Amino acid sequence: MTSHERWPDLQGIAYGGDYTPEQWSRETWREDVALMRDAGVNLVSVGIFAWALIETAEGEFDFAWLDDVIDLLHENGISVDLGTPTASPPAWFFAQHPESRVQTADGTILGFGARGMASPSSPAYRAAIVRIATALAERYGDHPAVVLWHVHNEYGVPVGEDYSPQSVQAFRDWLREKYGTLEALNAAWGTAFWGQHYTAWEHIGAPAAAPSVVNPAQRLDFARFTDHQLRQCFIAERDAIRAHASQPITTNFMANQSWTTDLWAWGREVDIVSDDHYLWAADTEGEIGLAMAADLTRSVGGGAPWILMEHSTSAVNWQPRNIAKRPGEMARNSLTHLGRGADAILFFQWRASRSGAEKFHSAMLPHAGTGSRVWREVVDLGAALGRLCEVRGSRVAADVAVLWDFESFWAQDLEWRPSVDVTHKERIRAYYEQLWRDGVTVDFALPGQDLSGYKLVVAPAQYLLRVADAENLNRYVENGGTLLVSFFSAVVDENDAVHIGGFGAPLEPALGLRVEEFLPLREGESSRVSWDGRELTADAWQEDLVLTTAQAVAAHVDGPSAGAPAITRNAHGRGVGWYVSTRLDAAGLADVFTAVYADAGIERAAQPAGLEVVTRHGADADYVVAVNHADEPATLVARGVDLVSGAASDEGFEIAAGAVAVIRTTHQ
Ligand code: GAL
Repeated sequence: MTSHERWPDLQGIAYGGDYTPEQWSRETWREDVALMRDAGVNLVSVGIFAWALIETAEGEFDFAWLDDVIDLLHENGISVDLGTPTASPPAWFFAQHPESRVQTADGTILGFGARGMASPSSPAYRAAIVRIATALAERYGDHPAVVLWHVHNEYGVPVGEDYSPQSVQAFRDWLREKYGTLEALNAAWGTAFWGQHYTAWEHIGAPAAAPSVVNPAQRLDFARFTDHQLRQCFIAERDAIRAHASQPITTNFMANQSWTTDLWAWGREVDIVSDDHYLWAADTEGEIGLAMAADLTRSVGGGAPWILMEHSTSAVNWQPRNIAKRPGEMARNSLTHLGRGADAILFFQWRASRSGAEKFHSAMLPHAGTGSRVWREVVDLGAALGRLCEVRGSRVAADVAVLWDFESFWAQDLEWRPSVDVTHKERIRAYYEQLWRDGVTVDFALPGQDLSGYKLVVAPAQYLLRVADAENLNRYVENGGTLLVSFFSAVVDENDAVHIGGFGAPLEPALGLRVEEFLPLREGESSRVSWDGRELTADAWQEDLVLTTAQAVAAHVDGPSAGAPAITRNAHGRGVGWYVSTRLDAAGLADVFTAVYADAGIERAAQPAGLEVVTRHGADADYVVAVNHADEPATLVARGVDLVSGAASDEGFEIAAGAVAVIRTTHQ
């Protein structure tokens, strides 16, 4: 049940953040470590952007300051997550290797002076990252303070794709490896269309700016290639570190906030999954997106405990309007991540920077100092986490899987789709949100993986579906599973080519239908759906369905499909396949899920509105993590002890408005 073989050598829940001593005097370092102790900080990430100060010229290293920082932290009982600084190569590197700069699709060459990746395909960059990773691992591989390696920073952000000549050359090599022959490439890319047939590998380029829409299969392969190149950079650093150091190695993901990297593949390469999460100010229910990110992070790590590498104590500084967190919000955010599997709660960053682009970003120690509300909450959170040591290693279990497939998202995001109103982000959020409101805990999953452990599989946006993966879903239903599929799914194969047999054809066994034609609505137009005398509201999309074995459950009242089926249910083998062919609003989706839960045998937990509850299962006890997002107190029915407040009850706990509780209870 618990798996901490690769967990950093640390006691309890890890607490801390990114630490940038290179921006401060030695006197401030001493104040920092004293305050870290006051706050209960036991882990800080060091060196992430310090390449220029560690390797001052090619092959010349200055470790003196870093030695002193790491020793000082160690003397004060604070462990180190040591960064490799490869997300910000020094000025001298770009001066020596100007060809390593990233080129955008329109030919712009990105300059120095910010931060960000060099070309992941640049041989000079690859050599340089191995050199610095090796030097750091040789020096600190045995240092008792260093318990974790933090490779790079957020691969793919702020740029991932590179259209430089070096990248084009590497893309051709990657394509040769993938396809073997030009004939196979021409077939996969459908180059007979618009006369794009290739007769020489050297004629193939990256999908740079062109007069019209670039071949979508080429673009999809370029997305795969980009992900691959970035991952090779990670692997090169990881292996360089492993040669000299035995601590676990991670790199920080951006779960549902970055789309360049296929996190399922990355999850297999890291020792521990870690994630950065920031609230979107424009999202007034950011806690739902936060929960989704946490569930996705846990899922790409195979359910093992993970590290929240960064979140913010209050406002960020890079959105149009940076909304400060209100009292209690930081703890609610942190505890939500913990409830969904995080055993480390870290922030960007320890001390707010005085200079540079991020000076208006919040920190554990804000510009206002220790007299501030944020600081007091940081100290309180550290104390609360100190009381949660025993939660460490426990796991979250889910009966429901939501499909999340980066490849499908890359394909769906390309141009010239039937309607700009149909996006995977919007539908996944809508379906996840309903599950969240119903208090149903979910994992995310790939369509091709073993799904037999789930009572329900939800596919809100599976535009690209390989035939073999569709067969997996059909078998899942045949063997008793319940599958819920939303519109514009199973449309194309892995080359973005429409499935033989038409839209939805590979899922016909499970769903008992095919889609004859897409019928998008005009902007702002809404439509109605009639279901058992109730009327649901929809918009954006209808489809002309041909039912083979499915039963119509609800019909369109108006719009291009008036009178025709809108929602269907198909009994297949021992299971059921549901299909929703229009964009229902939240109330409509709530009705769909009620019916689907009944088929799947899922019972909703009856919690008060706004009380988010997730259970972590440990070897000796369960931990019910409750976060009250409402303005009213809420009662959680549970028997046990609240590890946050120390209160015990045989009946239930009143959780104050905006408060959090972690109830240790006997196994449920
Ligand atoms: C993250 C990044 C940090 C910092 C932070 C600000 O994406 O990893 O270095 O820039 O954003 O929110």
